[in-house]
Amino acid sequence: MASPMASTDGAEVLVASNRGPVSYDLREDGSLHARRGGGGLVSGLSAIGPDANAVWVCAALGDGDREAVRRAGGGRLPAEDTGGQQVRMLDIDADVFSDAYNGIANSVLWFVHHMLYQTPLEPVLDAEFRRQWASYQAYNRAFAEALAQEAAEGAVVVIQDYHLALAPRMLRRLRPDLRIGHFSHTPWAPPDYFRLLPDDIAAELLSGILGADHAAFLTRRWADAFVACCHAVLGPGIPSGETRIGVHGLGADADFLRKRSHEPDVDERMRALREEIGGEGRRTIVRVDRTELSKNIVRGLLAYRQLLDDHPEWRERVVHVAFAYPSRQDLAVYRDYTAEVRRVADEINAAYGTAGWTPVVLHVKDDFARSLAAYRLADVALVNPIRDGMNLVAKEIPVVSDEGCVLVLSREAGAYEELGEDAVVVNPYDIGGTAEALALALAMPAEERAERCKRLAAAATALSPAAWFLEQVEALGG
Ligand code: G6P
Repeated sequence: MASPMASTDGAEVLVASNRGPVSYDLREDGSLHARRGGGGLVSGLSAIGPDANAVWVCAALGDGDREAVRRAGGGRLPAEDTGGQQVRMLDIDADVFSDAYNGIANSVLWFVHHMLYQTPLEPVLDAEFRRQWASYQAYNRAFAEALAQEAAEGAVVVIQDYHLALAPRMLRRLRPDLRIGHFSHTPWAPPDYFRLLPDDIAAELLSGILGADHAAFLTRRWADAFVACCHAVLGPGIPSGETRIGVHGLGADADFLRKRSHEPDVDERMRALREEIGGEGRRTIVRVDRTELSKNIVRGLLAYRQLLDDHPEWRERVVHVAFAYPSRQDLAVYRDYTAEVRRVADEINAAYGTAGWTPVVLHVKDDFARSLAAYRLADVALVNPIRDGMNLVAKEIPVVSDEGCVLVLSREAGAYEELGEDAVVVNPYDIGGTAEALALALAMPAEERAERCKRLAAAATALSPAAWFLEQVEALGG
């Protein structure tokens, strides 16, 4: 039976995510400037080809985006801004959006899945939390309604991430004909931690995702944790056969990275970086992250300091190149964390630096070409998150590195499942252990380093973003 809401010229494949492939700046003269983003979804969606009838539904994140939606008459954005992609951006009320995104998604769900709370005092799940929860529901409903409107009969819809955990069930109610997938890009919390959430809300989140035909994760570990939470909260028989659980380990985009990292702007950034690093033959320990609480940048710096104490032979012979790009600066805890990263880096430079040697080169302004330059230069890559869905930087650096790098990798990163064997593995809380891992990595013979790096690059690119996206669609029979 045809769904009453199915549009006859609707899309066959739909993607839904909070952040879309384009964002807009509103300039003082009233003009709008579109900026296109990258990432797995962008290249994934391009894999299904320009002729596929596909629509991407996303949220307006700021004033520029809202203005662009208004100028587009509330419907699809101009194709010239999106590289030809059909994008429907939702102008959700700014306060509702802020409650849902900053309040619930980033301050509660992100914290639960990454286990970031300092539990003696937080979380405080009070009346204010309940009020924000209503906004999270409204935000999810706005997505479900837009998807229901845009989808052709029997279309495939792939809904992304913790921002949209309720949307699958909401959409299923509106459009039982659709084939719905949900993909989690984060870790999933183990039951004891997930159950910090009030029981009704824990159940609503799990049931929301179980509204999908296919619930997918980046690693087996996160998929198992989700199933364990379903058993603990909803009952031992759940998930039943109606929702299949999938694992799709998003990999690095080898072709894009190899080409992009040899363009002239990257060569230019390499020259500038080499100058900052100074000293003939100096080694580099490279890290590149969003300034994100879960990335463990501060303990990385502390481990580097420990290395300089325990192995003074490395003083003047190594530089820690740390790029920490601003993220979620609306949240005070992220601003404080950024300040702490700077403080510790400055402290190390003041205590150990000499006339010709700056031990830590820290940059906080986002610059993709400079990140690639650092990838190419890296002797050691430090990826030590306290918990991470995958961590694509761990996969990208071995692909791009010129001479082959040693990867020092946290066992709590999703990437550990695929890369652990050829990395030097650390417990991210153990400063002394991380310092010793850095020492081992710096001293590794060139031949072994190159061999390991080759294997890391092969494992890191096993599932390209295009193949990863197609797997999600195919899991729904699309
Ligand atoms: C994580 C999430 C993504 C999100 C990204 C950036 O990787 O899994 O969904 O896009 O962080 O976060 P932001 O809040 O800046 O969109």
